[in-house]
Amino acid sequence: PYRDQFASALVTWFEREQRDLPWRKTKDPYKIWVSEVMLQQTRVDTVIPYYERFMKSFPTVQALADADEEVVLKHWEGLGYYSRARNLQSAVREVHETYGGIVPNTREEMSTLKGVGPYTAGAVLSIAYGVPEHAVDGNVMRVLSRVLNCEEDIAKPKIKPIFEKAVMFLIDHNNPSYFNQGLMELGALVCTKGKPHCLLCPVQAYCLAYQEGKPEDLPVKTKK
Ligand code: ADE
Repeated sequence: PYRDQFASALVTWFEREQRDLPWRKTKDPYKIWVSEVMLQQTRVDTVIPYYERFMKSFPTVQALADADEEVVLKHWEGLGYYSRARNLQSAVREVHETYGGIVPNTREEMSTLKGVGPYTAGAVLSIAYGVPEHAVDGNVMRVLSRVLNCEEDIAKPKIKPIFEKAVMFLIDHNNPSYFNQGLMELGALVCTKGKPHCLLCPVQAYCLAYQEGKPEDLPVKTKK
């Protein structure tokens, strides 16, 4: 069926084409979490050295929970959006105190943590724990707007829940991690802003915008 073929085409492509990135060498939920927080508003190339330094200084939940805030913020200098670092440390302290240092493995529990929104929760759950949960960020919104040929303004609040449901339908239950990372990687490398590289796309055959001949016109986005 369509959804199995879509998932296996995406996962197979990701296995072959994924970039070698430091946070892809681990399944430690804490490390995945830190990487996703850093990647939220900062490009991959910028994040890499920050991630490496951060992990040297704060390799565990315990280490970050025990660290002085000013030392943590010093490691964030240049990444911007310092509230991300402050929220991350408070959330990690909460994990240390309430969950014995184990990052929770449900969306309900993760969502109670400071700064952890639906995207971050889904990314950590799927990548670290293999839980079939959606992780829809801006890149994934663009990919899905094309796959589904969504001609509505994707900034409208009703659109993201529709895309999250689409991911829950399409996701590979045997490999939620590679499925979600495949969508992210597709957005970064192939299904790019402006003119996408459809000839290189593993899911071209399933892409409704490609079939309509106008993937470069999507997504429709007003504000921002
Ligand atoms: N952007 C957001 N999450 C990412 C990830 N895990 N790898 C690469 N880019 C990302």
